[in-house]
Amino acid sequence: MERQMFRKTLELLQSSDRLLHCEKPVDPIYELGAVLDYFNSEQPIVFSNVKGHKVPVVGGVFGERQIYYDLMGVTKEDRLQRIMHAIANPKPPKLLDTGPVKENIITRNIDIGRMFPIPKSNGKDSERFITAGMLVVKDPVTKKTYMAVRRFQINEKDEINALISGASPLLIRHFNELEARGEKLECALVLGYDAEYLLASQISSEKYGVDKYHVDSALRGEPLELVKCHSIDVEVPAFAEIVLEGYLVPNKRVDEGPFGELMGYYGEVAPNPVMKIQTVMHRNNPYFQHAFPSPEEHLSNGLIREAEVFSYVNNLVDAKDVHVTVPGGCRFHAIVQINKKHEGDPKTAIMGALGSSKDIKHVVVVDEDINIYDNRDVEIALASRVQAGKDLVVIGGALGSGLEASHVAQGYTDKLGIDATKPLGEKAKLFERAVIPGYENIDIGKYFPDMK
Ligand SMILES: Cc1cc2nc3c(=O)[nH]c(=O)nc-3n(C[C@H](O)[C@H](O)[C@H](O)COP(=O)(O)O)c2cc1C
Repeated sequence: MERQMFRKTLELLQSSDRLLHCEKPVDPIYELGAVLDYFNSEQPIVFSNVKGHKVPVVGGVFGERQIYYDLMGVTKEDRLQRIMHAIANPKPPKLLDTGPVKENIITRNIDIGRMFPIPKSNGKDSERFITAGMLVVKDPVTKKTYMAVRRFQINEKDEINALISGASPLLIRHFNELEARGEKLECALVLGYDAEYLLASQISSEKYGVDKYHVDSALRGEPLELVKCHSIDVEVPAFAEIVLEGYLVPNKRVDEGPFGELMGYYGEVAPNPVMKIQTVMHRNNPYFQHAFPSPEEHLSNGLIREAEVFSYVNNLVDAKDVHVTVPGGCRFHAIVQINKKHEGDPKTAIMGALGSSKDIKHVVVVDEDINIYDNRDVEIALASRVQAGKDLVVIGGALGSGLEASHVAQGYTDKLGIDATKPLGEKAKLFERAVIPGYENIDIGKYFPDMK
């Protein structure tokens, strides 16, 4: 039995019949991504016959909400508390003497593109990209560990270049400080992790300043098991599949992109830092973890933002739940459900949600009788509970996200909040929703036995 990380995840997906196996030959250039994209990156798939390579590729693992809940043993109802509790109550990880990721340690003749089946996703992508890699660094002063998914363009045999977005001030600050002294920032790139590790990575290091390995341990309810890297002072999960060790090279930038990003547009080409790979560690018969660039693959980010928006709103009014939607890039759109007690609550909730991060762009506030995971229900609220003259809040000229094309085009973002709640008091009666008694107990198969 696997204890943690990717193989444990694959075991759980297999035993719940969620894993598809593709044994037909698949080209890592475009074809593999096309298959993942066909399923909207919501279907975990093992590609065991990747042309030109012996290592299988696994994609689509973390693109579906219920998969996270099941893998982590949480429910829709308790997930927000579990995440917020882990951030507020971090727990130490555990350092092991060794672990499966050290089964193979390669320090010479490294050629990443030859060793691993690294896919190319979209037609105008500049190169093949590692898209699911978790960049792990240690704060040079506090020694806290921070990890985040960052894509890496394959440049040379042992040189790849990172996209480190402007939204990562802590990492950029560390890198710049060391670079000014001509020093390297040691880092590891981890592939083959699990839902807890991924979710812990998606909290902002700048905002919380907490060691993300400690958040991971709190989230999984047991210590994250680590080993020391072979050639650098960084710890990585003992049960990971593949680890690339090295450093960000001081005073070197290489153009990165174009790359078809999560919203389906090509991001701009820009000079970005370079990682030099010194050592490759991997398990025997490793799996190569891949994430086709799609909104679904950013669901981990959306799940963390839901907890964040919830706590910002709940500081002000009685918040019930938050849905940060997938088509909204898991960061731009929030549907906030509140228990409205005062007429001012929805507008206050809008301020809280928009204030939770610069990425949140559009917020809809609804009542408890609206299912925030059902677009149909949300649209019913928009159609029947909104009067534009009084229910819209527009904040012009705010900071937005560099991942959002209209923000990039304009240089700033206009934010919108919509109060789609019903009025309090007597007029609330106009909004009582019609219910069929016994509807939830209807067994439709009883009426149409031949229906599949
Ligand atoms: C699939 C996926 C791919 C991502 N790719 C990048 C990337 O290439 N560059 C980047 O800066 N952030 C990327 N992110 C977002 C960061 O991982 C995320 O914002 C993280 O919380 C940043 O951590 P930090 O605030 O500690 O820097 C990606 C997230 C996911 C889920």
